[in-house]
Amino acid sequence: MFSKETYIARRAQLCRDLGSGLILIQGNNEAPCNYVDNTYWFRQDSTFLYFFGIQREGLVGVIDCDNGKEYLFGNDYDIEDVVWTGPLPTVCELAKSVGVDNSGDMRALQTLCTKTIGEARKIHYISPYRSDNQRQLSVLLGIKYDAVLRYGSLDLIKACVKQRSIKSDEEVAEIEKAIDTAYNMHVGAMKMAVAGRYEYELAGFMEGEARKGNGPVSFPVIMTIHGETLHNHNHSNQLSEGRMLVMDAGCETAMNYCSDITRSVPVGGRFNDRQRTIYEIVLAAQMETIRLSRPGITYQEVHTAISKVLAEGYRSLGILKGNTDDIVAAGAHSLLMPHGLGHMMGLDVHDMENYGQIYVGYDEETRPSNQFGLASLRCGRRLEKGFVVTDEPGCYFIPALIDKWNAEGLHRDFINYDELEHWKDFGGIRIEDDILITDNGCRVLGKPIPKTVAEIESTMAGC
Ligand code: GLY
Ligand code: MN
Repeated sequence: MFSKETYIARRAQLCRDLGSGLILIQGNNEAPCNYVDNTYWFRQDSTFLYFFGIQREGLVGVIDCDNGKEYLFGNDYDIEDVVWTGPLPTVCELAKSVGVDNSGDMRALQTLCTKTIGEARKIHYISPYRSDNQRQLSVLLGIKYDAVLRYGSLDLIKACVKQRSIKSDEEVAEIEKAIDTAYNMHVGAMKMAVAGRYEYELAGFMEGEARKGNGPVSFPVIMTIHGETLHNHNHSNQLSEGRMLVMDAGCETAMNYCSDITRSVPVGGRFNDRQRTIYEIVLAAQMETIRLSRPGITYQEVHTAISKVLAEGYRSLGILKGNTDDIVAAGAHSLLMPHGLGHMMGLDVHDMENYGQIYVGYDEETRPSNQFGLASLRCGRRLEKGFVVTDEPGCYFIPALIDKWNAEGLHRDFINYDELEHWKDFGGIRIEDDILITDNGCRVLGKPIPKTVAEIESTMAGC
């Protein structure tokens, strides 16, 4: 946990930004896996973590913007629980640890909600993504279960996005800690990437390294020789020479700040000519993001600029044809990168995605595009100092998509489908770092993880 002053200041800012009403922030509960007492690992809700910082299930934080009072609600454990869990702090003690003066049990929360509704005051909450929290709100507020999702507070979302988008120095330090653990995950896995091994051995190694850094992985590890499938969570393949291995994995610190890193390496440690050629094109695009990203430019503009680097590269290989600007304007290059350049990252690996991407990655000025590929850009808005975003271009030869576009005759002026036939067995490449927007540019966070062809080959030498 940060010092309690951090949480006090964040809540005070939120209270000022909302101005009136009761803010109700739900923590998460334990989630049963195959029976009630055998749970998935506990993950606290990120909004709750940001404002209350406490790692315990079954809590609700409340800020009354009309009188400045703050509360933590939850039921204390009794001796029956303590026999199994060991001594645990009371809800009152937890509240004090983060500078909250008032606490109570869940009945007291119900009383406060009923009173607030009786006073016709607004209750602000974030629409829940878990059904148990949706049911809790339904009961607390006396509204139908399905209606709960309709009445989430846009004002609360906007105020949370405003604060959480700008990372403080202590948050950046946590993120860098997570990236340094990701260094161990990636460099170790690179050295294991030899023919004959299985993807699950490397994925398992990565999970262990994440745990050695005192947190879980930040999302299910992507470790695949079929990197053309963007989020491939299958780990059953045996590595073989000639395949690129896409390793997209990060971890969380004990405080749940995340890392999200992708490296793509040739099985066996030496790039062949085709692999090196495509890799250098993707790397040039990834480096162009680092060159361009700064306060004032939109990430949509950066996405478009790096798309031109990719398109130019594919044009030089005869995969695309015509004018580069026209290719990108038409979206023809998106056949080979059907996703966006990146997303915000912080307490969530896709930071704040539960608020709705439109409120996080876009604003009144920058609206999402409908164009295939660009439409999947999670963060398009103007960058500001303190944003942490991922820089993750890729190249994917997806046979089913190539065949579909070819059959439909899409972008025939720009795409050389005959040439593409030779690439359909290639797989994919993605390269991803996490960058901090600084005063007049950006900084790649964490200990540098081998990224150039030479760095990867020398890291993997003798693997
Ligand atoms: N690294 C996984 C993702 O960004 O979706
Ligand atoms: Mn990512």
